[in-house]
Amino acid sequence: MTKKLRIGVLVSGSGTNLQAVIDACQKGSLTAEVAVVITNKADAGAISRCEKAHIPWQFVDHRLFHDRQNFDNKLIEILREAGVELVLLAGFMRILTASFIDSFPRAIMNIHPALLPAFPGLHAPRQALDYGARFSGCTVHFVDKGVDNGPIILQAVVPVLESDCEETLQARIQEQEHKIYPEAVQLFAEKRLTVEGRKVRILPPAPGSEP
Ligand code: GAR
Repeated sequence: MTKKLRIGVLVSGSGTNLQAVIDACQKGSLTAEVAVVITNKADAGAISRCEKAHIPWQFVDHRLFHDRQNFDNKLIEILREAGVELVLLAGFMRILTASFIDSFPRAIMNIHPALLPAFPGLHAPRQALDYGARFSGCTVHFVDKGVDNGPIILQAVVPVLESDCEETLQARIQEQEHKIYPEAVQLFAEKRLTVEGRKVRILPPAPGSEP
């Protein structure tokens, strides 16, 4: 049997991307299992998703730690205890310290609701609308020490419609997020991602591994 990649997911919100990953694991399109979910919000919708899927989760309240380093040390401890090989940021609204990033070299991914490097930071769909962009989308990237900055793994393009408001554009972007995030994780699970400088190379599938 193929060994499953152990994933840890960090979330602050509703967790629809977490759900997409859980669903892909259950369907078998993702050779991985969610080993642990950590949230810094006691009311995160992601918690009920974990309960439903019988996935271990922990609430770590960042306000109880006197600095970011101590908070991140706690996250690292939980992820290590769970044997996590890949960390996914899925709407995790905290900036990670350099030592967290160094603890999981080239093994932290983030999803961002824009075609990076356009519109980093908060409220990316609103930024795209305000700017008058005709296209936006979403990006899965490796996390480095800059915000929304690391090497790009996958992107999906979403047209901006005349009729769009922030909510409608965000909803269409999220539909694409739910496809490309599990796909990027599967590429990692198949060891098909290599990074050269800023560029991620996607290797062809190993012979005999295609369905
Ligand atoms: C996602 O749309 C993700 O792209 C965004 O947070 C949302 C979380 O939704 N992340 C960022 O803006 C990071 N800069 P979810 O909790 O439903 O997955």
